[in-house]
Amino acid sequence: MKKFLLLGMVLCLSATMVFSLGKKDAKTGKYKIGVSMPTKSLQRWNQDGDNMKKQLENAGYAVDLQYGGDNDIPTQVAQIENMITGGCSALVIAAIDGSSLTEVLKAAKEKNIPVIAYDRLIMNSDAVKFYATFDNFKVGTMQGQYIADKLDLENAEGPFNIELVTGDPGDNNVNFFFGGAMSVLKPYIDSGKLVVQSGQISQAQAATPNWSTEKSQERFENIITSVGYGPDGVKLDAVLCSNDSTANGVTNALVNAGYTKDNFPIVTGQDCDKPSVKNMNAGTQAMSIFKDTRTLASRVVTMIDALAKRTAPEVNDTKTYNNGTGVIPSYLCDPIVVEPKDIQKALIDSGYYKPADIQ
Ligand code: BGC
Repeated sequence: MKKFLLLGMVLCLSATMVFSLGKKDAKTGKYKIGVSMPTKSLQRWNQDGDNMKKQLENAGYAVDLQYGGDNDIPTQVAQIENMITGGCSALVIAAIDGSSLTEVLKAAKEKNIPVIAYDRLIMNSDAVKFYATFDNFKVGTMQGQYIADKLDLENAEGPFNIELVTGDPGDNNVNFFFGGAMSVLKPYIDSGKLVVQSGQISQAQAATPNWSTEKSQERFENIITSVGYGPDGVKLDAVLCSNDSTANGVTNALVNAGYTKDNFPIVTGQDCDKPSVKNMNAGTQAMSIFKDTRTLASRVVTMIDALAKRTAPEVNDTKTYNNGTGVIPSYLCDPIVVEPKDIQKALIDSGYYKPADIQ
């Protein structure tokens, strides 16, 4: 009997430890939520930050929203440190580098401040209690499948030429984006139906530091020159790009090399950022993946509400995302494919953009 009582107490204790927020702010009497975003220089994170702030404030929380300069890791670490000492009750963090927050988050753990990893998984920290993101592997498979369908790889004889561009090596999502895309494309590369003429096939070779448009453009200009791709040169059929900022660099390089909408290779993307939607309208990017930042923000607010009520936040994945300290219970939102024909319904009718934003 005693044993069961003890077990019950231990379970209760661990439940309250996990399903709760830190202290309320003494001055305002509100829970203060620290929201740390990686950069102001990419549109999506500004939208994520704005949505998080708006939705948290509407739900009655105080918010400390910070951006880590332009992907500056020491700035993000210092901001998180201030959030912890400044009385935040929970932290929502989109990490610049998933492996650089282990030290600073020890202090959050000590103060029982739960951390929710936002969009990108934070590695090697047991302060991370939950993860809210889009289904990142599915994003990759959708991009790969788009290329497979458009080139009709199942039936066409080929061979077709493809090049591969992915994101920052410190972003855990890259493993899923690239892994998902390659789960579709690799069999065709292995069989010789798809050929990577540059030879740059591995994830490390396809990486783009900081997801930088300039770096992706630079790398792609080198590939164009070394392989001899061009409207009158070696035919390039498709470029797998893991997101829009890298796709924009590739598109710039292709336009500079003389490609027009009439002979443009298939270029994939992700985020439906404004420049990419404009490129889709202009015929210089084929598709993007729409991840509605409003949906992700409201999912995180729901998680925080549950913690405030000391109940378990809803999750829909308890096996995929191991951050090195164990599997982090996750909620995966659904990404959707957007081609030019879908822009009106997905992006305008849904109120995500005004027509003027993408003209
Ligand atoms: C996000 C993408 C974004 C990329 C660059 C990734 O972690 O999931 O949506 O395009 O970072 O900021």
